Amino acid sequence: MSDTSRRPRRTGKPYRRPQKDPVRILAFDALRAVDERDAYANLVLPPLLRKAREKGDFDGRDAALATELVYGTLRRQGTYDAIIAACVDRPLREVDPPVLDVLSLGVHQLLGTRIPTHAAVSASVELARVVLGDGRAKFVNAVLRKVAQDDLDGWIQRVAPPYEEDAEDHLAVVHSHPRWVVSALWDSLGGGRAGIEALLAADNERPEVTLVARPGRATTEELLGEEAAVAGRWSPYAVRLAEGGEPGAIEAVRDGRAGVQDEGSQLVALALANAPLDGSDERWLDGCAGPGGKAALLGALAAERGAVLLASEKQPHRAGLVAKALAGNPGPYQVIAADGTRPPWRGGIFDRVLMDVPCTGLGALRRRPEARWRRRPEDLEGFAPLQRALLRSALESVRVGGVVGYATCSPHLAETRAVVDDVMKERGSEVELIDARPLLPGVTELGEGPDVQLWPHVHGTDAMYLALIRRVG
Ligand SMILES: C[S@@+](CC[C@H](N)C(=O)[O-])C[C@H]1O[C@@H](n2cnc3c(N)ncnc32)[C@H](O)[C@@H]1O
Repeated sequence: MSDTSRRPRRTGKPYRRPQKDPVRILAFDALRAVDERDAYANLVLPPLLRKAREKGDFDGRDAALATELVYGTLRRQGTYDAIIAACVDRPLREVDPPVLDVLSLGVHQLLGTRIPTHAAVSASVELARVVLGDGRAKFVNAVLRKVAQDDLDGWIQRVAPPYEEDAEDHLAVVHSHPRWVVSALWDSLGGGRAGIEALLAADNERPEVTLVARPGRATTEELLGEEAAVAGRWSPYAVRLAEGGEPGAIEAVRDGRAGVQDEGSQLVALALANAPLDGSDERWLDGCAGPGGKAALLGALAAERGAVLLASEKQPHRAGLVAKALAGNPGPYQVIAADGTRPPWRGGIFDRVLMDVPCTGLGALRRRPEARWRRRPEDLEGFAPLQRALLRSALESVRVGGVVGYATCSPHLAETRAVVDDVMKERGSEVELIDARPLLPGVTELGEGPDVQLWPHVHGTDAMYLALIRRVG
């Protein structure tokens, strides 16, 4: 007689193996890496995609879908968390993070893509079965079925507080930004509801890829010959790639004559290079140069003038990236690893100095979908003394009559005007602000000056800030 006691008892439907969907599993793995290891999505994703391609699991469309699922889920996390919280019977912090990731991926498919409802739910349940087990897959199924009962607008109506009651909380949920970030961006932008809504919405858009044709090394005409390339908006060296354009496939990019660089960053370098000077224009300094995007453009511009560029960066491995970016520069340059607050160079010798200081990066949220959730208001206190010390050092380094460009890729007033105001006050009549606006010819809506703040929703660039300061004494 055979022993039947160990056979699984049939309690309902026959057991079916979960279906492994490589796209969703990869998206889940990327989200786990971002959550568990504080990884950056833009660094985690490419090697995962490469491996999947090598294994033959993926084609180009799969890679595009996986990328969209990861970026979309991370960007929209604030909105999706509020919706999930309304569909579970416990506080979100009591839901295991991997379960929350599967749920968020499911909500994004349901509310943020055109994937049909039944496909979004069943793909998420299958993913849950593979990565979480059958028990938790039932929970995922139950929550997503509730979410599927309404569309995104309907859910926002239900879960966001009314604008009239709490404008910042409303915008935080609708546009998926932490409340403190909404508040900081609004302080800097000023104006009413329309402007801040447009800015927050722009932060959730995928940015275009912009190239720079490094002068003397490549031309925009050459880059415009590439597939999907169109002229830049503002910088004479910029070329934009429409969706699908692959910078790595372009020869000029591969051999460093051109690079990938947001137009905001190009404008910062150009404005500093074009600021009026009396006397010599021979020595340029980039005091926070890593990874080297602005240094490469400054180096090429300096070469055209016969000036030499010193590019300095504190972290040795990032100084290595600067050296790579500058390799092949048509004029003289030097790259060093040095702390810009205790510089090894003599004071008062440079004609032009760029200090593109470390900052919260709140102006580049389009590019780093997880950054808004990782940053804390306390980070500002960490950056404040360093930003002031670096600006002081820049003003020590520049000669009398020379110009310093203080730049950030954050529009937070604590990192922009507050730093410039404080340090300028210390220096009294030895320094004066130059109007940076005429140095960005053709760029519209630059505010009252003399400093400039670029905006994604207005200029299509990162929210770069630039103050130009001349040392007069
Ligand atoms: C905003 S990034 C500069 C970006 C760069 N200008 C570009 O366009 O590629 C700031 C850089 O400053 C460096 N840094 C931080 N503290 C520094 C210090 N005390 N001295 C010099 N560089 C520093 C960081 O490592 C980082 O590479």
